[in-house]
Amino acid sequence: MLDNIALIGFMGSGKSTVGRLLAQRLGWRFQDTDALVERVAGCSIPTLFARDGEAAFRDKETSVLLGITLGERQVIATGGGAILREENVAALRTRSLVVYLTAQPEVLAERVSRRPGERPLLTSGQPEPPLARILSLLAERGPLYQSAAHCIVDTSSRPPAALVDEIIRQH
Ligand code: S3P
Repeated sequence: MLDNIALIGFMGSGKSTVGRLLAQRLGWRFQDTDALVERVAGCSIPTLFARDGEAAFRDKETSVLLGITLGERQVIATGGGAILREENVAALRTRSLVVYLTAQPEVLAERVSRRPGERPLLTSGQPEPPLARILSLLAERGPLYQSAAHCIVDTSSRPPAALVDEIIRQH
């Protein structure tokens, strides 16, 4: 049995919601890399992107992730782009069961629309409307999520508690 469970997947796939519940069920610590990056940066992710750019965000995300993957008994919710760097994937896979949360693109679009302005890659000045942008990012990232994952769980139509049960069965 691996020391941690890490959730990867696109924005709106339910990583934070499912991760928090899963951690409660297991009695493990919940670690959300986006929240930790915000703490380190001292500002929100949209502000960090606007002020320092995406590369600066990615550097902070990597340093947070490499640190927490050394721990144990943690559920780690990653940012949707964490799989873009091989070193992040390698660090996650070393000691964590890596679970790819998927959902239909329309479901992702609906979920992210509930909290507008939180995801700079889908909002600020992007040339495409959100669903088209989601489809193009998914075309690029889908294979990366698949190859990083030990298993895949579809979140489109099941409530978080059922997803938690399924992940626990896989662990
Ligand atoms: C990102 C996803 C976001 C956050 C940042 C970049 C991405 O996290 O890390 O806005 O590149 O997909 P969530 O997946 O938790 O929304």
